Amino acid sequence: MKGILTIFIVGLFAFLQTPWKAPVEADTLKNPMLGQEEAIKEGKKLFATYCAICHGDKGKGDGVAGAALNPKPTNLTTTTFHAQSDGAIFWKITEGRAPMASYKATLSEEKRWQLVSYLRTLKQ
Ligand code: HEC
Repeated sequence: MKGILTIFIVGLFAFLQTPWKAPVEADTLKNPMLGQEEAIKEGKKLFATYCAICHGDKGKGDGVAGAALNPKPTNLTTTTFHAQSDGAIFWKITEGRAPMASYKATLSEEKRWQLVSYLRTLKQ
């Protein structure tokens, strides 16, 4: 029993360490507010309220609450991050992955797209 538990825990950690990939279907989701000035402004406010604590004020993954987390909050300014589709980013904000929460219930679809629009302005 103990052996099984150990395998489970080790497996869980291995799972958490793998790069986080959204399912391919997520790529078909289109941002209805792409590049809209108003959406970006709203997204910026939402980011400061809900996300900066972990991802940092500028999205570099250096927020105060993120320092002790494993895995670390992702740097949202890298080309690797921006290589994925808007739909994939939206899906990740919607679903979450420990230690990041799911925002499905907390933030409306509109708000999640505003966040995606804002994140797109953080490209290095
Ligand atoms: C409790 C700290 C925490 C908060 C708050 C948080 N995140 Fe995260 N976030 C993380 C961690 C940790 C990861 C890395 C998870 C992984 O790779 O398994 C992550 C990953 C992500 C990713 C995926 C990056 C990739 O790999 O492509 C996105 C997008 C993201 N966060 C956006 C947000 C947004 C937007 C908010 C606010 C609504 C937010 N996060 C709030 C900790 C947090």
